Amino acid sequence: MDESTHRREQMGELSSVIRECRKCPLWKDTHNAVPGEGNPAAKLVFIGEAPGRQEDLTGRPFVGRAGSLLERLLAGIGLTRSDVFIANIVKHRPPENRDPRESEIEICTPYLDQQIRLIEPEIIVTLGRHSTRYILSRVPIEFEKITDIRGKVFPVTFAGRKVRIIPTFHPAAALYNPAYRADLEEDFRTIRDELTVTEPR
Ligand code: URA
Repeated sequence: MDESTHRREQMGELSSVIRECRKCPLWKDTHNAVPGEGNPAAKLVFIGEAPGRQEDLTGRPFVGRAGSLLERLLAGIGLTRSDVFIANIVKHRPPENRDPRESEIEICTPYLDQQIRLIEPEIIVTLGRHSTRYILSRVPIEFEKITDIRGKVFPVTFAGRKVRIIPTFHPAAALYNPAYRADLEEDFRTIRDELTVTEPR
């Protein structure tokens, strides 16, 4: 079996485990878990917060309005969803889209870590403060506000591998406050430029 088939199979198995997960109570009020989707050998991984209503109904990440904006931002740098991998720190939708709790993040994120280890991305883009806080705390890098660090490139060792982390706003923030849209577009140009930098894999 070639490496890409093997990776795809392992990702499929991990997604099945996530769909059956009952480790925290979040699953009780949901229709589907949302493991994540895309290219399991992607150079670029996007990490959001938690599924919303549309994601819960479909079992797919970022398919609502924030997802449409994410797709437009990707198109702006010449990419589609299938070029990248898109996941969340929490795999079931919190009730009424409340913020995920620390305990839920702690229980759920080993799945995200496994996904990242499997994909071996070169770049991880964290969307919004929850995923940024989780990923940077693992490095660890502290920050006060996402506005202080967005669009910066943090070369770090994550799960034993070199990876660059680029935090940016959550696309939903730009839906509420269109002033963030230009910042998001600027950060996506940074992502595009970073993709052309070749780091040893
Ligand atoms: N917001 C997120 O953070 N993730 C999704 O999958 C959808 C909306």
